[in-house]
Amino acid sequence: MSSNHWYKDAVFYELNLRAFADGNGDGHGDFIGLIERMDYLVELGVTAIWLMPFYPSPLKDNGYDISDFYNIDPAYGTLDDFKRALAEFHKRGIRVTVDLVVNHTSDQHPWFIESRSSKDNPKRDWYVWSDTDQKYQGTRIIFVDTEPSNWTLDPLTGEYFWHRFYKEQPDLNYDNPEVQAEMLNIMRFWLKLGIDGFRVDAVPYLFEREGQNGENLPETHAYIKQMRAMMDREFPGTIMLAEANQWPKDLMPYLQGGEFHMGFHFPLMPRLFMAVRQHNRRELINILNETPMLPEDLQWCIFLRNHDELTLEMVTEEQRQWMWKEYAPDPRMKLNLGIRRRLAPLLDNDRRRIDLLNALLFSLPGTPILYYGDEIGMGDDIWRYDRNGVRTPLQWDTSKHAGFSTADKIVEEVITDEVYGFHRVNVAAARQDAGSLFNAIRHQISVRKQHQIFGRGDFQILYPANEAIFAFERFLEKPELGATRVLVVANLADSEQEVVLDTSAYGNVAPIDLLTGQVYPNLGSDTYTLRLPAYGYIWLGV
Ligand code: GLC
Repeated sequence: MSSNHWYKDAVFYELNLRAFADGNGDGHGDFIGLIERMDYLVELGVTAIWLMPFYPSPLKDNGYDISDFYNIDPAYGTLDDFKRALAEFHKRGIRVTVDLVVNHTSDQHPWFIESRSSKDNPKRDWYVWSDTDQKYQGTRIIFVDTEPSNWTLDPLTGEYFWHRFYKEQPDLNYDNPEVQAEMLNIMRFWLKLGIDGFRVDAVPYLFEREGQNGENLPETHAYIKQMRAMMDREFPGTIMLAEANQWPKDLMPYLQGGEFHMGFHFPLMPRLFMAVRQHNRRELINILNETPMLPEDLQWCIFLRNHDELTLEMVTEEQRQWMWKEYAPDPRMKLNLGIRRRLAPLLDNDRRRIDLLNALLFSLPGTPILYYGDEIGMGDDIWRYDRNGVRTPLQWDTSKHAGFSTADKIVEEVITDEVYGFHRVNVAAARQDAGSLFNAIRHQISVRKQHQIFGRGDFQILYPANEAIFAFERFLEKPELGATRVLVVANLADSEQEVVLDTSAYGNVAPIDLLTGQVYPNLGSDTYTLRLPAYGYIWLGV
């Protein structure tokens, strides 16, 4: 096992710099604040960070609309502050990946301002222009709630430009070799500073072709291979993580083709929410059976929530309607093809279900990614613009603005409602309470880190008769650390359940629950019977 595969053992934390900690009192989260609060992440136990966009941006799309790829937005500090934060992370043994937004820029980016200025501007061809809005009809619209078309007419030259997201985010034209070369230079710029890799944004949409749906085109794969080859050659050991909201079969070429090291497993995520609501493992098993196990150098990335709406792109129409009915009873909760809510409110703030989903997140095959704030059970605000309601400041304590900032006015207001407001839900309180969600997650992470099997082991589903029980095995020959076999048993039901498992493959040994240290009766029988409380789970290790 090579330490080059560090990402296989990692526990990631998605960090929204803007809302994490304000160090200079101007109301914006920034790198100085992040450095001051960094030990919190060490305490939590995460080993890698995905840093959301911090580049100059008009913030139409929370920084995913970049106006300068080679800089830091002044609200967050300077390039030197970034370098310091990076060094501080590395000092603590935490790896840092940053967002690489490849598909588009802001419409305020100087390239686009030039491009739109005249049809014969040298930058014209850096974006996708057309005299008609009828091209590429097979391409779906992603932001269906706001964008009527992927084309927008630019009055300056009377032509349309192409955009897969907001019209303020024109797509770059990857048929232009200059664009291809420039994106590689942008990557080099950040890699030279010493980052450990990229979370690559909106991967499938780089090229447009007639008669196609505009996703996963061979040209896109060819370009990603170039990105990867450059990284391997010039910055060995750095990684790329794909944001490609696709079925496993469509994601596989991004992994196996010598492209990404890791890919988010989008279809698994909503099925975790289905399982705890249906009290049944069926949907989980179906998707996991469609999920190939990956070789030593590749990895799934699994998550419960992130900064976007809980996406329902990778479900059937019937499942989508069901998810909306169950998890988005108020129409404001819906956004595009998803649900704009945080983890705790989605699960009715029910600790048993939150703990259960975390226990699955940390034991299913793949590298887990936590979304900032979910480790203390933060709430959301569905009345805010776009997805801002799940991007509010991290609640540190009960002081002004939840300890996020000393400014009078802050960039995004803190959550103040009765259940999730910062007076009740905050880091300081969570730290003190031995039974808090924060401490439960910390414990799950620390146990996971003692057993390499979770990041690297094989995976096998068990099929006991009771379908409310989701049970699977992980196994790893000769781990450098920890158990060689773990049997995970989870009760998806809201009542106590009995399950009979065939454990004859194990031999007559007493397993222990890695999470509690409790010793269980000897394995080795084909009628090994367990009783689990409502939403209970165990990680039986041998
Ligand atoms: C990705 C990001 C999302 C953003 C979109 C356009 O899906 O996760 O937040 O809006 O790309 O950049």
